[in-house]
Amino acid sequence: MTESFTAGRAGSNGTAAAMPNGTAAVTPDGTAAVTPDETAAPDGAAGGPDALVGRVAGTEDSTPLQFAVALDEDSYLQLDDVVVTLRHIPGVGAILTSGVVTQVRARHEGASFGSDVFLISDGVLPARVQEIAEVSTTRVEPEVYVPPRPGEIVRRASGPERAQALYFDQMPSRLPVGRGRDGAPIYVNMEFLDGTRGAHVSISGISGVATKTSFALFLLHSIFRSGALGARAVNAKALVFSVKGEDLLFLDQPNVRLDDDLRAAYAGLGLPAEPFGSAGFWAPPIPDDQTGRPNVTGRTSGVEAFWWTIAEFCARNMLPYVFADAEDERNQYTIVIHQVATRLRLDAAPYGETGAVKIGDDVAATYAELIDVIVARLTDEETRQDWAGPVTGAGTVNAFVRRLRSSLRPLRPIIRADLTPGPRRLISTQDQQVTVVDLHNLHERAQRFVVGVVLAAETARKEDAGPGGLLFTMIDELNKYAPREGTSPIKEVLLDIAERGRSLGIILIGAQQTASEVERRIVSNSAIRVVGRLDSAEAGRPEYGFLPASQRTRATLAKPGAMFVSQPEIPVPLAVEFPFPAWATRRSECAQAPRPPVAPRRDAPRRDAPVFSRLPDPDDDVPPF
Ligand SMILES: Nc1ncnc2c1ncn2[C@@H]1O[C@H](COP(=O)(O)OP(=O)(O)OP(=O)(O)O)[C@@H](O)[C@H]1O
Ligand SMILES: [Mg+2]
Repeated sequence: MTESFTAGRAGSNGTAAAMPNGTAAVTPDGTAAVTPDETAAPDGAAGGPDALVGRVAGTEDSTPLQFAVALDEDSYLQLDDVVVTLRHIPGVGAILTSGVVTQVRARHEGASFGSDVFLISDGVLPARVQEIAEVSTTRVEPEVYVPPRPGEIVRRASGPERAQALYFDQMPSRLPVGRGRDGAPIYVNMEFLDGTRGAHVSISGISGVATKTSFALFLLHSIFRSGALGARAVNAKALVFSVKGEDLLFLDQPNVRLDDDLRAAYAGLGLPAEPFGSAGFWAPPIPDDQTGRPNVTGRTSGVEAFWWTIAEFCARNMLPYVFADAEDERNQYTIVIHQVATRLRLDAAPYGETGAVKIGDDVAATYAELIDVIVARLTDEETRQDWAGPVTGAGTVNAFVRRLRSSLRPLRPIIRADLTPGPRRLISTQDQQVTVVDLHNLHERAQRFVVGVVLAAETARKEDAGPGGLLFTMIDELNKYAPREGTSPIKEVLLDIAERGRSLGIILIGAQQTASEVERRIVSNSAIRVVGRLDSAEAGRPEYGFLPASQRTRATLAKPGAMFVSQPEIPVPLAVEFPFPAWATRRSECAQAPRPPVAPRRDAPRRDAPVFSRLPDPDDDVPPF
């Protein structure tokens, strides 16, 4: 294919930009549907002579869906630029074909050998440099799918033309997701996020540089603050499971790195550069600590400790979520799990003030005691049939007992009845817009338990409440909870949300390093797919088939803050850059230490007051600015 470029000059003689051509400024009817603010292109180039970049090339086939542009000598196009070209068809009128640049090539036309470049540079051999941009069509308006003709003028699109090319003019409500390469905002159609025509977001990319978590939070910020949800923003909530460090415990604090440039970047997207105003934080209690304080170090105030009492564990049928690993699926003891869960629900009576239970004559006030009671029932010949099921063999029961016992260490800190329950112990999305559940201090098995139990409860609550506000659920490392292989109760809950969540108003925002490890039906149910930096092996997998070949390669180079966003209406994923978080993502980014709800008295003897013993020294971790 490349040989063809040496064959001709593609009609670009370097004078295209200067040629007076009345047709260039004509736009067909319909483009004016865009609001005037759209015309504020950063360089003010809308429709001006600068917008002319070249002509449709004639050296390769031009098709309605793909065409090439020979660039004028003084012009350039870069990847992701949006261009338009107009063709007049007698009897039909003007057809505007818009597209996005997916590749740009430069070569010496007239050179045959590698060494020719030296002769050409010395002026010995006549040749010229020609750049050719490949364009993927995004829209043809009106819908007459004819190829742009070689020789037609091609312009850089801005203002209403750019909005039309990218379908922004048709979006009843648009969510800003970042800026394009041209500096102007890129939008996602809110209808594909709020359940109207689609839902769910899948974000993939390698660890550390793909900025998956940061983008997911930026998306939430945009959902809540851009106005795209209209009045529904008031009732919209977010539930965020945090699995990596304490990064998300500061999202209600302004970032010290917030400066005028960053504020301008947010303003350019129509967003305030502010932290999340309404947020609640939950973390597990410190293990082996009787005070019920949350197990966090960076933030010592405004974080609630969560746990479930033994009584709640029995009454709410939580046992299946203890067995949520791939290993459990391979075993035969599912019947035992359900049998034991039923017995716990029916036989465990609440006991005492702190959530213990009494089963027969036995009292269980800790998870260890509960396990002992269950094991005793399963090993006693008299009770065994009732607790394990009538036909269950000893081998199966033993396998169950082994797995149950191995859950002691992971789950002991969050299933207990030895602490005095506070009013805000149970995780709830009720009282704040963003609910952060910090799981990073928990064992993986306990993380799965919490995600499963909380999501199942939220799904049930939404089902009972009928259609109401939207709940955006962000799950990092989705592959841990919904792996491609096997089944588990948590995967069932997530699949249920992926398939039915749209009608329930639960929207999943999943992030994972590799989409190829996540359950297919969850990825395929995500209307919005986002990719940050990928490694090259991953980029080649079919899960990223929505990325054109050039974008797959580019994804292996993407910088932090750069993402490719694919949405159903736009045939080419759009490259966006989103601004650095306006909220603190670590303690050192907090302008001031997060305040405790009630400030301790200055003269309080800190050393004697265990409650304050975990407060960091005020001089700790001074921001580097
Ligand atoms: N818009 C941005 N521009 C530049 N850098 C950013 C931007 N957003 C976040 N970062 C930086 O990129 C780093 C990685 O971001 P983030 O934690 O979101 O990545 P991740 O893909 O979730 O990584 P992991 O897989 O390890 O969880 C952060 O330390 C953050 O400071
Ligand atoms: Mg992350």
